[in-house]
Amino acid sequence: MKKKIIILTGAGISAESGLRTFRDTDGLWEGYHIEDVATTEAWQKNPSLVQAFYNERRKAVLSAQPNAAHLALSKLEEQFGTLIITQNVDDLHERAGSKAVMHLHGEIIYAQSSKNPALLYKMNKPTIEMGELCELGSQLRPHVVWFGEPVPMITKAMYEMPKADIVILVGSSLAVYPAAGLLELVRPAIPIYVVDPKIPAVYLPNPIIKIQEKASIAMPLLVEKLLAHE
Ligand code: APR
Repeated sequence: MKKKIIILTGAGISAESGLRTFRDTDGLWEGYHIEDVATTEAWQKNPSLVQAFYNERRKAVLSAQPNAAHLALSKLEEQFGTLIITQNVDDLHERAGSKAVMHLHGEIIYAQSSKNPALLYKMNKPTIEMGELCELGSQLRPHVVWFGEPVPMITKAMYEMPKADIVILVGSSLAVYPAAGLLELVRPAIPIYVVDPKIPAVYLPNPIIKIQEKASIAMPLLVEKLLAHE
């Protein structure tokens, strides 16, 4: 039976691919306050600003490449039962070759009906324009979970966490729940590796192995070690 590794990733794993994180930039995200572009109120108040903001982000994702950290993680799937639970909306894990990826906050390369969130459309162009409608006739929006919206995949993620034999946290400040709360569901004896240049506080009884390093440096070394010892 393969050991199960669960990797929780955040914006930091895509930082070296050129995609900005959320909290490294003194509260502004690409020049906007998050509440002006990533909430349902923002969408109600000024949908074209929100649409334009995510069109910019989507263009950045499409021109970004997976980095050594994404590629290293894809190698774990040969030897381990691997699940990546990511807060990121980019598709860099998938483009690096990872198959088992769960997106807690949505995927920016999909458009979503603004009437029925279950209606998703994989995009074949970089932007969604105002006036582009779903099959129900409602405006298409990015398939991104905004603040105040439910996190549909969280139940599935919570179900998986207690099964982990090894957990790796990469590139997340653990600032946002419910994602950050997933670590509390890991069995207490299970080791948790934390990879981040600024290690976030983790108050858990588990063995915490802190690797204060950028993901693209630390992850290939950690993956090599795990593949050699298991
Ligand atoms: N390698 C590893 N970690 C890095 C790197 C790097 N090269 N650069 C930055 N980091 C770390 C930062 O130190 C920080 O701890 O990545 C983390 C980024 O934290 P956030 O910007 O808060 O991103 P994240 O934790 O993913 O945010 C969670 O908040 O705004 C919402 O929905 C949004 O999914 C996002 C959620």
